[in-house]
Amino acid sequence: MANPQVNVCGLEFRNPILPAAGPPSKDGSALQAAARGGAGGLVTKTISVHPAQVPRPCMAEIRGGMLNAELWSELPKEQWIETEYKMARETGLPVIAGLGYTAEQIRELAPMVRPFADALELSTHYVGSSVAPIVEALRAAKEAVDVPVFMKLSPHPNIQEIALALEDAGADALVMINSFGPCLAIDLESGLPLMGGKDGFGWLSGAAIKPLALRCVYDAARVVKIPIIGVGGVTSGRDAAEMLMAGASAVQVCTEAILRGPTVYARIARELDTFLDEHGYASVNEISGLTVRRMRQRGAPHAERAPKVNAERCTLCGLCEKSCPYGAIHQNKEAKILEIDEERCFYCGLCVTRCKLRAMSMAL
Ligand SMILES: Cc1cc2nc3c(=O)[nH]c(=O)nc-3n(C[C@H](O)[C@H](O)[C@H](O)COP(=O)(O)O)c2cc1C
Repeated sequence: MANPQVNVCGLEFRNPILPAAGPPSKDGSALQAAARGGAGGLVTKTISVHPAQVPRPCMAEIRGGMLNAELWSELPKEQWIETEYKMARETGLPVIAGLGYTAEQIRELAPMVRPFADALELSTHYVGSSVAPIVEALRAAKEAVDVPVFMKLSPHPNIQEIALALEDAGADALVMINSFGPCLAIDLESGLPLMGGKDGFGWLSGAAIKPLALRCVYDAARVVKIPIIGVGGVTSGRDAAEMLMAGASAVQVCTEAILRGPTVYARIARELDTFLDEHGYASVNEISGLTVRRMRQRGAPHAERAPKVNAERCTLCGLCEKSCPYGAIHQNKEAKILEIDEERCFYCGLCVTRCKLRAMSMAL
């Protein structure tokens, strides 16, 4: 069995699947449930100097994920210090404490939280995309505490610039990405936004943002050497494997844990393990950053062969035939095989990704 343990900045996680800041980490009880549900370590909901005034409604399931208008914790910092962090520590798992936002706020919060935290995670969500205030928040934390400081990035447009500046300024690790927005979803009965608040805007999370998260992790991993914790749209062990390959050393999960409950961590860790075993990898570390390494060798590829069909896996369901824009796929009903017309095939690759039985493959 592949070794599931990972070490990020000296923190030993029993597996690489952690809850992300949000409802799955909203208080001590939720964190204890995450531990029972198999999380490899804990990340606590972002707190700030004042409790958040959260607009309602603040969560909606939409196709591909969720919209949320949550801010940071609605619990006062004193409650976290008196009760919630202690409950997190009782689990025996490493605890990463989420804090926000400005340097001044971090200066106040970091020393208070330090006795309960193995690392801090500073959210940049309300700090903007300018480098200076993000770096100032990091410096405030580094001056105040001796534990590793992880910087949680939103999907900023200048992600490499911010990642590099944070590494230079002493960040111990990056966590990316936060939810994407602002976005809008409308209730068709009332014509009003599904989210409360002034504009009715929400932030997108879940499966829909996975490609954005992967790109951000990959982009950062290409320029920095510090570890990255990947978050955004992970719902399965295969998603986690993708995140690790893009450059992450561990993975956080929020939306999937909200929608399916705290047992998702063990399930995702188990599925990741199965993937590693099936592919002959000895450890999680072996696939961490694999895409970055392979892309350095590869250059720009150009597929020049039509996909191949694995007849043993193909059930002739017709999905690929229906959606081939070039009319290159046909079922030979008599021979009960799928035929690909090499002349017509554009090597676009769509059929390979549509086939959920993985009966088609294409050389990359
Ligand atoms: C309802 C909700 C509340 C969240 N609250 C926080 C928060 O307090 N601090 C933070 O850094 N990220 C917060 N996030 C963002 C998540 O931690 C995570 O970065 C994002 O949702 C992408 O991961 P996912 O696709 O697995 O949900 C929140 C997300 C959701 C859905």
